[in-house]
Amino acid sequence: MQIRKAVIPAAGMGTRFLPITKSVPKELLPILDKPMLQYVVEEVAEAGIEQVIIVTAPGKESIASYFQTQPALEQHLLDTGATELLEKVRHASNLAQVSYVIQDEPLGLGHAVLTARESVGNEPFVVVLPDDIIAHAPGALSQMLEVAERYGPGVLAVEPVPWEVVQNYGVVEGSPVEERLQRVTRLVEKPPRQEARSNLAIVGRYVLPPEIFDCLERTPAGAKDEIQLTDALVLLLESHDLYAYEFKGTRYDGGSPMGLLRASLEFALARPDTRAAAKALIAGLGEVD
Ligand code: G1P
Repeated sequence: MQIRKAVIPAAGMGTRFLPITKSVPKELLPILDKPMLQYVVEEVAEAGIEQVIIVTAPGKESIASYFQTQPALEQHLLDTGATELLEKVRHASNLAQVSYVIQDEPLGLGHAVLTARESVGNEPFVVVLPDDIIAHAPGALSQMLEVAERYGPGVLAVEPVPWEVVQNYGVVEGSPVEERLQRVTRLVEKPPRQEARSNLAIVGRYVLPPEIFDCLERTPAGAKDEIQLTDALVLLLESHDLYAYEFKGTRYDGGSPMGLLRASLEFALARPDTRAAAKALIAGLGEVD
């Protein structure tokens, strides 16, 4: 089974990052020197997927310009001998073949994925949420494609989360299949804390069959009055096996300022070129009261 296409929903308003998101799309906020969005496109490319469909919204045009080539900038870097920077700039635009669809109204994650229906066509694909940053080699998507190779397209990334935060996630229940893998028996989007029967949360990586689009068409507005991908997965489960895969890696919640700060610090500590400076910076903070 060859998966060729990735859908990256990036149409949200980024309210948790206001006021910066008045003019800068959340997906372009940086972890060190690269936008969050680039980390997930790199993960997609590493998984061997070459076509990326980004779902954006009116006013978020800077997302498209980020992945375009910038001839004047490249010429300047060439003229000044800044070859390392030139490589970085070119790398961003050479990662994948990126196309865009516009979600005109903020009707939810499920609706955003449905907007990409025509671009995806009748083949399995992946959905990647750009504010779930996962650090691991091989990447979470590569791990999931290996599972999908054996069990078919219908694989959701999951991780156990503290019970106090289950209401922020789609949660799944399942029966064990093999290490790290369960067959899904039930899914609920953002269950009230006292009603949640599982703390196994869906994280933003999905390998999906094209049948999900018909399910999305039939999905009414749910949590937050939005069309939810999880609710469409509930419909899909009636006719299709779904698997929950506990990926290897550390997930950062890039959707919140503190999550992004944590990612920035830990990535700076992990990167050879920034490690020493990051250690010195943290040591310099001393006791904080
Ligand atoms: C979305 C999904 C939810 C999933 C979460 C992971 O929620 O609807 O099922 O658990 O992403 O980050 P959101 O964070 O957009 O509210």
